[in-house]
Amino acid sequence: MDLEPEFAGIRALHPPTLDNSRDKTFGFLCGSMGGPDHYISRFGHPRLRARHLPFAVASAEPDQWLHCMAWAMEDIGIDEALRERLLTSFFDTAADWMRNRPG
Ligand code: HEM
Repeated sequence: MDLEPEFAGIRALHPPTLDNSRDKTFGFLCGSMGGPDHYISRFGHPRLRARHLPFAVASAEPDQWLHCMAWAMEDIGIDEALRERLLTSFFDTAADWMRNRPG
């Protein structure tokens, strides 16, 4: 998000430094993909839609988020088939579910 102007919209919704966001996202994804439940043990039930309600998520934001995630996964060398599967059977649904504003 910090690297590309294309992601400026969603970047602006986040805090000035992304360490905490990165840490929480890692903890959540680790647990949701079958690893240790770091997020739940620290913060309780994710309630992700509720936790995103203070931030305006219409239709541009999920697109940016998905593109950013696709890019990040490619950047760190995740196998293409796995990337594709995560995007189409998990991240796209999750990102769409986070929409909380019209437009
Ligand atoms: C659809 C577009 C999305 C936008 C614009 C967005 C934006 C944000 C923002 C602004 C925060 C609060 C700042 C922070 O804690 O970093 C946040 C938190 C978080 N997001 Fe997202 N997000 C989106 C989608 C997702 C999706 C699809 C996931 C999971 C698959 C996710 C996982 C998380 C997690 C785990 C947190 C931390 C929640 C907490 O404990 O406060 N986000 N997101």
